[in-house]
Amino acid sequence: MSLIPDPAAASALSGERASRALVALAWINAQLASARGLEPNVERTLAHLREVLGADEVSVWLHAPQGLIEGWASGSVGTSEAAVRMALTGGAPGVAGEMVAAMPIVRGDRHVGGLVWRLRRPLSAEERILMTAVAGLLALELTHAEHLRRLEVEVAARTEEIERGRRFTEKIIDSLPIGLYVIDRSYRIQSWNRHRETGMQATTREAAVGRSIVEVLRLAPDDPIHREFDEVFRTGRIIEYLREVATTGEPRTFRVTKIPMRLGGTEVTHVITLGEDITDWTQAQARVSQAEKLAAIGQLVAGVMHEVNNPLATIAACAESLGYRIDPLIAQGLPEAQEAIDYLGIIGNEVERCKHIVDGLLDFSRPRPVQRERVHPNEVVERTLFLLKHHARFRKVTVDVRLDPAVERVPQASAEQLMQVLMGLLLNAMDAMDGEGAVRVVTRVGPSTEAGAIIEVIDTGVGIPAQERDRIFEPFYTTKAPGAGTGLGLSVAYAIIQEHGGRIEVDSVVGVGSIFRLILPVVAA
Ligand SMILES: Nc1ncnc2c1ncn2[C@@H]1O[C@H](COP(=O)(O)OP(=O)(O)OP(=O)(O)O)[C@@H](O)[C@H]1O
Ligand SMILES: [Mg+2]
Repeated sequence: MSLIPDPAAASALSGERASRALVALAWINAQLASARGLEPNVERTLAHLREVLGADEVSVWLHAPQGLIEGWASGSVGTSEAAVRMALTGGAPGVAGEMVAAMPIVRGDRHVGGLVWRLRRPLSAEERILMTAVAGLLALELTHAEHLRRLEVEVAARTEEIERGRRFTEKIIDSLPIGLYVIDRSYRIQSWNRHRETGMQATTREAAVGRSIVEVLRLAPDDPIHREFDEVFRTGRIIEYLREVATTGEPRTFRVTKIPMRLGGTEVTHVITLGEDITDWTQAQARVSQAEKLAAIGQLVAGVMHEVNNPLATIAACAESLGYRIDPLIAQGLPEAQEAIDYLGIIGNEVERCKHIVDGLLDFSRPRPVQRERVHPNEVVERTLFLLKHHARFRKVTVDVRLDPAVERVPQASAEQLMQVLMGLLLNAMDAMDGEGAVRVVTRVGPSTEAGAIIEVIDTGVGIPAQERDRIFEPFYTTKAPGAGTGLGLSVAYAIIQEHGGRIEVDSVVGVGSIFRLILPVVAA
């Protein structure tokens, strides 16, 4: 559009007013083409006009979108009310009281502003053409600027809207109880949520975003995580697996999911990685299936035991009455009579043994209803240890007792049953250590009222292999020599603790030792 871009250079061409006017027009034109910086444009336009006309003052007024008036003045004429009114009412060019003249700036049928000047003589015919042309160009410029301003406002509003949307999405991602991060094809981290800042391999968002995941997670070149990313990029399929992470504390289980993301097109551009700590969930799941299994066994056992109990009672009664009948025969010196009495003795003993097992099983299938009271875990420990002190198997064992006085009482509990459980655990610990070594008994406050009292029996025995850990609570599961254990201790303990609204946990490392943990509520169910 620009004819002569530099007005300073152009004005050097000729001293003639007409050619200078052309230069001024060309300059305005050039400014319009660039459509930037309304204010300096108008001001320079005015300066040119003043020079061309030899006018004292020239100014421009315009209606701003909000109905206000803005103006640029080259001199004080801009402040003259009469001039402004004249310009705005679209009055014809002419001379007002102080030789102020004005020309409306009109765009289509809209009156957008006015061009005002102070001149000591009327305009010549060419000057009028020039002023009309300038007013036309200014009209263009002003509308342009108005559009630009409206556009700027709109862009600002849209930007704010987008920013709000971005913050909202970020908040959602940060509120998720899972770790989340996103990498692009060059392994650069593009997103890293707040949850990912805690726990395993924690890094702050500020330290992670923009860096390579390889660097941040310090991945070895052959780390499987590399291959997983590559696989998702290549196949576009979701990868999901469980990962056991051994921290200094107990191992945690994470469900890791790698999800392909496409930013338009079909090619995978990013991979989203989610890491959810499902340790508690898997533990709860295992407890539920354990409880279901044992409940089923309990029902079966209860049925069988009921059937066994009656015949046992009959056998015992028959043996007893046979004894009464045989006794007189012994007095008669019959040798078979003594033999029969011996057999009856064996029958009696075996019946007793069976009854003992039956009683144990009945304890397991449905712990007998007993007097319930508020029982202090520390008292349970002290009373059990008092009883065991006199036990021959305990002679070579040191017992380290650490009782937390802050532990609260367990409501609706049976001291006898809890002692029976603790005794069973201590005897097991003894067996696991072959009667020698150190056992520790600890009480402490649990994390919630439903698990408010904790009693731990910690031994330094042989430990329990992982694959056996689920089975030790089953009735008759024993690794002890025939006659040394019935395998009922833990199953009864399990049932009793269950009755108390609690649970038993086991941590064990083969060759190091085991921890049996009784977790009991301190509020009534
Ligand atoms: N502290 C422990 N250390 C190692 N293994 C243990 C421990 N406690 C229990 N076990 C294992 O669990 C099995 C089952 O224990 P449970 O108390 O139910 O039966 P038991 O001790 O064998 O027999 P019972 O208690 O009926 O006399 C044990 O035989 C043993 O293999
Ligand atoms: Mg036992």
